[in-house]
Amino acid sequence: MSIPALGLGTFRLQDQQVIDSVRNGLELGYRHLDTAQIYGNEADVGRAIAASGIPREDLFVTTKVWTEQLAANRLIPSLEESLTKLGLEQLDLALIHWPSPNDAIPVAEYMTALAEAKARGLTRQIGISNFTIGHMQQAIDAVGADAIATNQVEIHPFLQNRKVVEFARSQGIHLTAYMPLAYGKVMQDAVIQGIAAAHDATPAQVALAWLLQQGFAVIPSSTRRENLASNLLAVDLRLSEAEMAAIATLDRGERLANPDFSPKWD
Ligand SMILES: NC(=O)c1ccc[n+]([C@@H]2O[C@H](COP(=O)([O-])OP(=O)(O)OC[C@H]3O[C@@H](n4cnc5c(N)ncnc54)[C@H](OP(=O)(O)O)[C@@H]3O)[C@@H](O)[C@H]2O)c1
Repeated sequence: MSIPALGLGTFRLQDQQVIDSVRNGLELGYRHLDTAQIYGNEADVGRAIAASGIPREDLFVTTKVWTEQLAANRLIPSLEESLTKLGLEQLDLALIHWPSPNDAIPVAEYMTALAEAKARGLTRQIGISNFTIGHMQQAIDAVGADAIATNQVEIHPFLQNRKVVEFARSQGIHLTAYMPLAYGKVMQDAVIQGIAAAHDATPAQVALAWLLQQGFAVIPSSTRRENLASNLLAVDLRLSEAEMAAIATLDRGERLANPDFSPKWD
């Protein structure tokens, strides 16, 4: 029931671009796909899955429930709609995309509805995304830490999110690092470039390996087949303790995903 360590992100990708990215990714060996209701691309992701011919049991598909669907009477119908768009009978992972803006809907209400979606077989696992320590605690109180497969949060060398990571770990909750390449910014960093050169690797591979070695799942996205292919090779890169420590010094609290409805960050 674990989450594959390396997946393919699809944020921003639309129409033929998302179809091509998922098709290329699946051809190259990605088996974990990350989409969301708000991305507006579930149907195209579904088309690319169907066209791939890959057996359903070999894939791991995540979607995320948008903030407007968090009420108890909306959450399950929204996941049924996601399944229809994706052309799937069951998700592998359904996440709450963001805590309800201003906590208008209580955490217990949507976590209970999400657990009910799992009980009805709509998804094999459930989890959370962009949850602060306070929201994680409320989710644990509602459904138990064991029921929460992951907290998907922004983590990359420039935003290491240590308080959230530490609390999640203390509760046994796995973490998925989104925007693991800091939306391309890791490519420009001199420290990361130096480590990459020493391994004959790319900066993207170094950033991904740094995350993977800490036990996070990673979900980089790319529109280019060559980048998709080389990112996948990050699983074979092994960084030394000194290299891990050098990247750990790059934290500068640089949060890239910070919409106006964000919770108060830790
Ligand atoms: N839960 C949430 O709220 C949330 C928020 C944000 C993101 N996410 C998820 O996390 C995924 C990843 O985040 P992201 O897509 O925003 O950012 P990202 O994966 O950190 O960065 C993607 C960017 O990096 C570039 N890139 C990828 N591989 C590269 C390589 N090997 N060399 C050079 N450039 C490379 C891509 O350009 P090219 O296309 O040119 O390769 C693209 O511009 C999303 O797709 C989404 O699934 C979740």
